[in-house]
Amino acid sequence: MNITSQKGDILKTEAEVRVVGIYEGEDWENSFIQRLGEETGGKLQINAKKKDFTGNAGQILSFPDLLIVGLGKSETLSTALREITGSVYSQLQSLPVTHVAFELFGEDDESFDPNQTAQLMTEALLLASYQFDTYKKPKQKNILEEIILIAEDGKDAIKAEKGIKKAKQIIDGVTVARDLVNTPAQDMNPIRLAQTAERIAKLGSHIRVRVYNREQIEKKNMNAFLAVAQGSDVEPRLIHLTYKPEKAKKSIAIVGKGITFDSGGLSLKPADSMQSMKCDMAGAASVLGLFVVLAKLEPNIEVHGIIAATENMPSGKAMRPGDVVRAANKKTIEILNTDAEGRLTLADALVYAQKQKVDTVIDLATLTGACVVTLGEEIAGVMSNNSDLAHKLIESATVVGEELWELPLFGRYAKLVESDIADLRNIATSRYGGTLTAGLFLKEFIEEGQKWAHIDIAGPAYAERPLSSYIGKGGTGYGVRTLVKWIESL
Ligand code: BES
Ligand code: MN
Ligand code: ZN
Repeated sequence: MNITSQKGDILKTEAEVRVVGIYEGEDWENSFIQRLGEETGGKLQINAKKKDFTGNAGQILSFPDLLIVGLGKSETLSTALREITGSVYSQLQSLPVTHVAFELFGEDDESFDPNQTAQLMTEALLLASYQFDTYKKPKQKNILEEIILIAEDGKDAIKAEKGIKKAKQIIDGVTVARDLVNTPAQDMNPIRLAQTAERIAKLGSHIRVRVYNREQIEKKNMNAFLAVAQGSDVEPRLIHLTYKPEKAKKSIAIVGKGITFDSGGLSLKPADSMQSMKCDMAGAASVLGLFVVLAKLEPNIEVHGIIAATENMPSGKAMRPGDVVRAANKKTIEILNTDAEGRLTLADALVYAQKQKVDTVIDLATLTGACVVTLGEEIAGVMSNNSDLAHKLIESATVVGEELWELPLFGRYAKLVESDIADLRNIATSRYGGTLTAGLFLKEFIEEGQKWAHIDIAGPAYAERPLSSYIGKGGTGYGVRTLVKWIESL
């Protein structure tokens, strides 16, 4: 699907369908009658009355060659723009059309920003058109070939092109993340994940990648990571991507949980809970997706992407409940539940990340079912030792439409992850507050003074039902757009 921008009058543009936006309560009929003539305009008016079309956000009044779309109130348009555009896309998909022209929504507004509007609309269109068709011919093929975003003003059309280009670059990264998550674990194991990282590194001249095998990981004393890996027949990989521009203002590390399949290990998951566990590398997928975007956007920030990739499997070689391991920072961990494996791999990955001497470390992880209980399937949780960082991340998430909410790292629960025979235990002694105790466990691997935030994406990383009008079932690429926005704000 090709998206471009062009100067013109939407109602006079050649296209199979033209899409025009109307504000709630706007007296639009008269202007349409003027622009389309008495007869057509009059028919529109009658139809709108019949269908109770008021211009509420997302409402669509559809005619063979024209869709009139409710934009809601102008104040809320920028936040609703993706959702509205996504609804239009699904409407278009039910029509046998290939060429569609959109008006840039909100064009008559004082605060109208053609670049931004085009970016948001393009993002929604591209996200909505996503299909994962590696293993199945889609029932409904995308027949939409060409979308033109029409600007009244020639300068605006040029600005819109910039927004379109940026959206394409960002959604390329999100799409990579979604594909990685959707690919079955049999085909997306640690080796394949590392190969993907190597491919991505070739996309940008400032990107390097290092991949470490089991022996090399052993030399790094990452025994918590290795404990998880020891039950699997597939080798683990430590993946370290670096994006290093010539003059970096700041440096950050993003750690992604990379469990390519989480069976639970000997603390085996029940069948139902295991069904979607190919998604347990969604944090890693978002890190890889982010690097696809970095290659193109080239921000002035040094970025390290770190993934401790392994399966979590039961076998004769698997870690046992009760085993004690020594993580790379020398702390000992009593493994009481092998299904709390993410924090084991992250512990060592976080220690490794801090060796890169970065200003900020962020980890993204499908870490706890408890987070889904707390915040539901559409909202991720953030915990941080720096409230400014947490707020900046939440702000970035809000702007891109990825919901994020802060949860506390209260020290009073730290005692719940203390072990009788080791420094830590990998599950808390209480089953309540599971997201918080997981966060507190990770905090034990963060050095004094290191700015850090942990984002639990167990809910929104993998959608069992559509997340919005523009993000359907399956891998969502959650986090890529938030991180891009946040990096741009540094
Ligand atoms: N990968 C799971 C968490 C998860 C659950 C992700 C649902 C996505 C959707 C994680 O490794 C896990 O199994 N966590 C356990 C922790 C428990 C044993 C303390 C959980 O949440 O039950
Ligand atoms: Mn688990
Ligand atoms: Zn897991």
